[in-house]
Amino acid sequence: MKLQWNDDLAIDIEDIDEQHKEIFKRVNNLLDAMKGNSEKEEVSKILNYLARYVVDHFHAEECIMIKHNYSSYKNHKDEHILFTKDFSELERDYEKYGVTPELLQQIQWRLCNWLLDHISKEDKKIGLFLKKKH
Ligand SMILES: [Fe+2]
Repeated sequence: MKLQWNDDLAIDIEDIDEQHKEIFKRVNNLLDAMKGNSEKEEVSKILNYLARYVVDHFHAEECIMIKHNYSSYKNHKDEHILFTKDFSELERDYEKYGVTPELLQQIQWRLCNWLLDHISKEDKKIGLFLKKKH
């Protein structure tokens, strides 16, 4: 499965929505590279690049939450921390064992499904919070 963007996922904070779309693109590139038997070096590069992009993105969200005194900041940040930890594990598994059915399944659950769930629930709440505030 690929990550498909749809407008219901928009949280109406322009920068963040653009970053979410970019993350989807990069995850899909990763899946293409893994399933297309790309060179290990190439897949590692995409993984690495994605990891860094996501860290910067989480940081951007966290700055918005702090700036606006968002009430569920702690809880939201905890979800980011958990994702980052899971992602590092996926990277380690890839380096160790390469592409396996288990790894693809983990990517589906811990990356793709997590993103869809997190954006449509937690990130959406930030957008609503800002709308109410202004
Ligand atoms: Fe988030």
